[in-house]
Amino acid sequence: MKVRKAVITAAGWGTRFLPVTKAQPKEMLPLVNKPLIQYSVEEVIASGIEQIILITALGKRALEDYFDRSFELEYFLEQKGEIRLLEEMRDLSGLVNICYVRQKEQMGLGHAILTARDVVGEEPFAVLLPDDIIDSRVPALKQMLDIYERYGTNVVAVERVSREDTVKYGIIEPREVSGGVYQVLDLVEKPEPEEAPSDLGVVGRYILMPQIFDALEATPRGKNQEIQLTDALRLLLKGQAIYAGEFEGARYDVGTPIGWLKATASFALRDPDIGQELREYLRQLL
Ligand code: G1P
Repeated sequence: MKVRKAVITAAGWGTRFLPVTKAQPKEMLPLVNKPLIQYSVEEVIASGIEQIILITALGKRALEDYFDRSFELEYFLEQKGEIRLLEEMRDLSGLVNICYVRQKEQMGLGHAILTARDVVGEEPFAVLLPDDIIDSRVPALKQMLDIYERYGTNVVAVERVSREDTVKYGIIEPREVSGGVYQVLDLVEKPEPEEAPSDLGVVGRYILMPQIFDALEATPRGKNQEIQLTDALRLLLKGQAIYAGEFEGARYDVGTPIGWLKATASFALRDPDIGQELREYLRQLL
């Protein structure tokens, strides 16, 4: 069955980026000249998916406004003769159809996905975490969809992480089935290095079968008292296969100041309008 819907989770507090995120959603932080959330939305569209379900929460209104039309702004730009900007603003609100679901309590990633149950229905769907920006030739989500097409079941994106970083990720126990593709034998949320079953960490791109919702319902609170997607996937493993795919591309964890800075530097240096000037400035600075 074709994957038609993508859930983007944007309900977290952004604690790793406080105080900036106290009064502004972290997903609205800019990466060069676009907010982070737009990279996820564009990745979904570039992967051939047309419906987006955005999970938001208290304090995230800016996200809805961002993808909405603003007649006042359009009128103002028209009056000023700023036609290029005007068209850009219209294109933005016409990008895609987004349905918003509010997560009323912060009970973790698993719980956030569960709030989309009714809107997703009984079909496979994609999940993207906007904290993970992946810069790649083929969109990372599309790479996962290709693996889904081959196996017809759950797929998670993985990447090799350093031993001391296993505490930051869901870690899989893999059995390689072909170059960079693994069958998941088990998985554990944020294990200590000595308990990690491998160095393959889950990154924020998933293709999930609708049975994940029953698994999520049955999942008790786990690590950090949250309902963990990793724990639900573990339950799901009892009845369904899960595959993991290493993606081609560079990933940035933009949920932290340093990850965001690295992404900013790398995207900005390549930008045709500002790259050259920034390169010269950085040379001077160093
Ligand atoms: C979440 C998941 C974790 C996954 C990670 C990827 O953790 O719980 O399994 O490896 O996203 O970014 P978070 O980073 O939200 O703590």
